[in-house]
Amino acid sequence: MTATEEIKKGLAGVVVDYTAVSKVNPETNSLLYRGYPVQDLAANKSFEEVALLLWNGELPTPSELTEFSAFERANRALDPRVKAAIDLLPTDCHPMDVGRTAVSVIGANHPQAENSSPEAELLKAKELFAAFPAVVAYDQRRRRGQEPVAPREDLDYSANFLWMTFGEEAAPEVVDAFRVSMVLYAEHSFNASTFTARVITSTLSDLHSAVTGAIGALKGPLHGGANEAVMHTFNEIGIDKEESREDAAKRAKSWMEDALAAKKKVMGFGHRVYKHGDSRVPTMKAALDRMIEHYGRHEMLGLYDGLEAAMDEAKAIKPNLDYPAGPTYHLMGFDTEMFTPIFIAARITGWTSHIFEQRAANALIRPLSAYNGVEQRSL
Ligand code: ACO
Repeated sequence: MTATEEIKKGLAGVVVDYTAVSKVNPETNSLLYRGYPVQDLAANKSFEEVALLLWNGELPTPSELTEFSAFERANRALDPRVKAAIDLLPTDCHPMDVGRTAVSVIGANHPQAENSSPEAELLKAKELFAAFPAVVAYDQRRRRGQEPVAPREDLDYSANFLWMTFGEEAAPEVVDAFRVSMVLYAEHSFNASTFTARVITSTLSDLHSAVTGAIGALKGPLHGGANEAVMHTFNEIGIDKEESREDAAKRAKSWMEDALAAKKKVMGFGHRVYKHGDSRVPTMKAALDRMIEHYGRHEMLGLYDGLEAAMDEAKAIKPNLDYPAGPTYHLMGFDTEMFTPIFIAARITGWTSHIFEQRAANALIRPLSAYNGVEQRSL
């Protein structure tokens, strides 16, 4: 066999290592976090509980949850050094650059930065979980010329995230839809960003470096950046609040037909692992439906249905999680560029769980390449 025949472009179909964090089964469209179906967690558990499940392997006891909840609430404030670093960045840079910089600054200032003991790593993961929402909220507000809003300890993670971003208490159904999105975005095995985190960890580098690298991988539109790209599609088609659901669907359908005829890739559809639909979509779509009802925006459902139906008819390609998540965040009031940083906040849990796992049974990740350049020659 030649080296060329062995190449697995994009590592497609390659099993790289074991993981006990989550199990994706594309045949049954199921996703388990530590054995629990993700839709059951989304229906019944707080994001804080899911974070502890991913890190520890078990759901927390009531006292473990109380203790973590108090820790999380006490560690939410934006570190002045992080704020100072963000203030050096232009307000028109991509917010993913802000998130990436923030994690890097947090790491550079961390007294335990180079301590990779399990206790120190868990502490750093918990701190990052607690601290990152303030980065997203601050960045969203500074882009709008608004003053930062201090966190509120009487609110849970999701309610406080929305509070710090918008400066007003969100309705309970909005908080719940946000919580659902965080649970669904938390973890998804060896996706590109998680794999990046594991590659960095495999060199025995530190946790914040691994998360910073993962953010870089998440930014791209073939991965996390797709939730933002979905909204660009909706905007390109045109959102008209007065339009009927049926008319919006017709326009969306015709946009999709033109896009596919032009051989465009439409973000929010397709998946490397799931070929019959993303296991997370029904739960996120139900949350989107609740937001559409809450905000009375049925034209958004028309756009959603029109694109989905046309893609299904033409190529039988199904939506992925980013497809319902994008419009959900739009309805909540987030600027489009902020969608992927929200994904960071959720995926910090999955990334750090994989960092722990990689650290515990490490092997340097260093694949081979097949050289196809100029053969050896003389100067
Ligand atoms: N729009 C149009 N056609 C598509 C799409 C799409 N979104 N996705 C796949 N296809 C087509 C490809 O054009 C290709 O067709 P061809 O065989 O006629 O050339 C075929 O389906 C296979 O596509 P690949 O890109 O080779 O499949 P792969 O497994 O590498 O792709 C990926 C997976 C990258 C996610 C792809 O579906 C895509 O680019 N989707 C859009 C980006 C996106 O939504 N990413 C989010 C991923 S989920 C997440 O991060 C939460």
